[in-house]
Amino acid sequence: MADSRVAIVTGAARGIGAATAKRLAEDGFAVAVIDLDEKHCAETVSAIEAAGGKALAVGCDVSDAEQVQAAVDRVAAELGAPTALVNNAGVIRDNMLFKMSEDDWDTVMGVHLRGAFLMSRAVQKHMVEAKWGRIVNLSSTSALGNRGQANYSTAKAGLQGLTKTLAIELGKYGVTANAIAPGFIATDMTRATAERVGMEFEEFTKAAAASIPVARVGQPEDIANTVSFFLDERAGFVSGQVIYVAGGPKA
Ligand SMILES: NC(=O)c1ccc[n+]([C@@H]2O[C@H](COP(=O)([O-])OP(=O)(O)OC[C@H]3O[C@@H](n4cnc5c(N)ncnc54)[C@H](O)[C@@H]3O)[C@@H](O)[C@H]2O)c1
Repeated sequence: MADSRVAIVTGAARGIGAATAKRLAEDGFAVAVIDLDEKHCAETVSAIEAAGGKALAVGCDVSDAEQVQAAVDRVAAELGAPTALVNNAGVIRDNMLFKMSEDDWDTVMGVHLRGAFLMSRAVQKHMVEAKWGRIVNLSSTSALGNRGQANYSTAKAGLQGLTKTLAIELGKYGVTANAIAPGFIATDMTRATAERVGMEFEEFTKAAAASIPVARVGQPEDIANTVSFFLDERAGFVSGQVIYVAGGPKA
């Protein structure tokens, strides 16, 4: 890449987002590491800088329109115009339907759907001006339906629709939009699920691996590698797609 391009990764303080931010820095991007609390982004930023990359920590709640605009403006001013965006920030509020509160529903919609919409809307201006852009949205195998996740599976299926529409609207400006639907990835999110169902994490991952064709659970780097592919210059003809990264053909 001739000039260093600027990528934004949301929810990049830990887990899949942190691994993705590090991978994109290795690929030559200057990376804006966005998460709820700027202080929590420090570890990811230090790791990128220690490896010789460029990164900026930005605190932002992606479900808040004003914070999103301020964060994108700050990234543009301090790192350069962002032309790659990974909408990764996420939360779970799992509950069976009859116990799911309106707050459980709204919180999950707010972070995943409203967050990805607000970030994409704010960043597209820079992509259109540059006549180049890459958007990757984190969906999930839960988009196909998952017990206890009426809110989350709806949001993750919604992100697939957003991805396809962004691909259609922005394609003529050199922008691609794709979604990754991970299966079980070992992160704090799946740790929290293990806790909720009262299992040790090791026991929980072993049970999950037993039903995965490649006989292991995923690691954050498995998803970071897939993001890296979509952001590559040579992936410019791949758009509006959803790739299931789940160690097998089914969720
Ligand atoms: N772990 C899995 O098995 C799995 C599977 C499929 C999809 N995903 C998706 O991948 C993404 C990353 O998951 P993870 O496992 O790394 O989760 P994680 O909980 O480890 O990390 C999520 C990060 O998002 C941040 N975040 C939450 N709300 C935010 C907000 N409003 N604004 C900014 N940042 C916010 C959190 O602070 C956290 O750092 C999520 O979208 C998740 O739904 C995960």
